[in-house]
Amino acid sequence: MFFFGSNRTLGVDIGTSSIKVAQLKKEAGKFSLETYGAVNVAFDTSSKGFDAIAETADILKKLLERTKVTTKKVVASLPNSIVFVSMIEIPEMSDKELKDSIQWEARRYVPLPLEEVTLSWSVYRDPESASHKLKVLLTAVPTAVVENYLKTFKLAGLRAMALEIEALALIRSLVDSSKDAFIIIDMGARNTSLNLVDKGFLRLSRNLSIGGENITTNIAQGLKVSLGRAEQFKKDLGLTDQLKDQIPHSIKGPIETVKNETAQLINIYESSGGKIQEIVFAGSGSRLPGLLNFFSDFGMKVSLGDPLRFINYDPRVKANLSRVSSSLSIAIGLAMRA
Ligand SMILES: Nc1ncnc2c1ncn2[C@@H]1O[C@H](COP(=O)(O)OP(=O)(O)OP(=O)(O)O)[C@@H](O)[C@H]1O
Ligand SMILES: [Mg+2]
Repeated sequence: MFFFGSNRTLGVDIGTSSIKVAQLKKEAGKFSLETYGAVNVAFDTSSKGFDAIAETADILKKLLERTKVTTKKVVASLPNSIVFVSMIEIPEMSDKELKDSIQWEARRYVPLPLEEVTLSWSVYRDPESASHKLKVLLTAVPTAVVENYLKTFKLAGLRAMALEIEALALIRSLVDSSKDAFIIIDMGARNTSLNLVDKGFLRLSRNLSIGGENITTNIAQGLKVSLGRAEQFKKDLGLTDQLKDQIPHSIKGPIETVKNETAQLINIYESSGGKIQEIVFAGSGSRLPGLLNFFSDFGMKVSLGDPLRFINYDPRVKANLSRVSSSLSIAIGLAMRA
């Protein structure tokens, strides 16, 4: 159903260090990127106070003006750190029965009173499965947080069509509907999410409170330099040392934790007979030099996700765009939901 008669949608990804937006136009089944942009924020956008909401709305508004966004229709993401995600299996049943059954199941999985959360779910029917079970991706978000997001968009003059979890946006922009199993690793400023995707369906999502900020503060403390210098040092050096032993622990430590968690996820999945084909990175933190190589000993393809591969865009902006595209994976995936 079209409410606003527009084929343009803005994807808004509010992260802990920056807000990213991407406006897509859909024509004849094909998306084109009309504008995009990002702005750094120096405070936690998920905090509840009205000041934070008003300030976020203000920053967002200025970003919309600067990037010449023309649509009010928004799809936005909810940060992984505040969403409870469960993958459950239930017997085949009608959609009507499903609603009651999911509410019932949710009591077992969601660690908050159901009256305080907004539940949503998507159902996946595997045509090749003989078990006749439905796979259900269940998400629960504190309703207060949802309301804060809606207030923020309203104050910024936008109309929120949908809020969804980051992982679903990443799948839309980075993974085609092939049958292969992937792990998408989104490295942000404070969080890293590991998302296991099988046949285009999210099977597991794990959020680690580790991100690029940890590396920067480690370097700053270790070398006794300012955060600004440490940030530059990180971007220049990364994990590129010839001999892995000589990469400072300040940089290697957090990445090793992510790597160990990835290994665990691969083990869990592969011990039940599956095979992971590829690791795909997203998020600005994944621009760390040498990162892909650091994961090469898993013996599978490791790549930086390209959210532009299903999207048309003006070739004149190609050079600029490819520099930042990995950080736009969520915003683009959100706008593709339209
Ligand atoms: N070239 C680079 N090399 C290494 N790290 C980088 C590079 N560019 C940006 N970063 C890091 O990426 C991080 C920000 O990533 P991103 O914008 O994806 O985070 P976010 O979405 O705001 O945060 P989160 O997802 O944790 O809420 C910062 O820690 C920044 O230092
Ligand atoms: Mg992020």
